[in-house]
Amino acid sequence: MKLLHLDSSALGAHSATREITAAIVARQLQRDSATRVVHRDLAAQPLPHLDGAILGGEDPAGAAESAAVLEEFLAADTVVIGAPMYNFGIPSALKAWVDRIAVAGRTFRYTADGPEGLVQGKTVIVAVAAGGLHAARPSDFVEPYLRQVFGFIGVTDLRFVRAEGLAFSPAQRRAAIDAALDDAVDLPRAA
Ligand SMILES: Cc1cc2nc3c(=O)[nH]c(=O)nc-3n(C[C@H](O)[C@H](O)[C@H](O)COP(=O)(O)O)c2cc1C
Repeated sequence: MKLLHLDSSALGAHSATREITAAIVARQLQRDSATRVVHRDLAAQPLPHLDGAILGGEDPAGAAESAAVLEEFLAADTVVIGAPMYNFGIPSALKAWVDRIAVAGRTFRYTADGPEGLVQGKTVIVAVAAGGLHAARPSDFVEPYLRQVFGFIGVTDLRFVRAEGLAFSPAQRRAAIDAALDDAVDLPRAA
């Protein structure tokens, strides 16, 4: 099985989502040591904003990079994504990646009956972390947004793990991350 591991936290070693995504990937490797993992660090190697030159082909290197990011996503059986909450939504680094994988004719298309997702057979696991509490509240633009994006392109096996209230106290932070790690135990589908 091929696993794409994406991180987008700017906080490096202090990141909650990085700790959780790393644990999910490590468990999958324990389960199936033949799993091929590709790690893309969207904070350390940020994709540029999608612009007219990339879309229009006047930036061939940018267009090639976008195409490679899309193929990397399409090739993965499982995608593990670290999605910290930044100002109620996802980090712009992760949004730049979303802009590469929501591509008409590749991951969705419009039909006479409306849009149709073209992605099949993929599991997407998202680790969300937030300083406050937002789950199922109007202030959460992370999980509803990513549900919309992945649902739109056809992903039906979409799972979320959340660690919240991380800014309340160090003890709360540790407990919330540990609870998320427990939630994540059985997340990856067996190969
Ligand atoms: C730029 C920035 C914006 C943030 N915005 C929010 C926010 O809107 N709501 C919230 O609850 N926490 C917010 N936080 C706190 C993060 O969600 C929290 O630090 C979380 O642990 C981030 O995940 P990470 O540790 O993987 O980076 C923000 C943090 C940063 C650095």
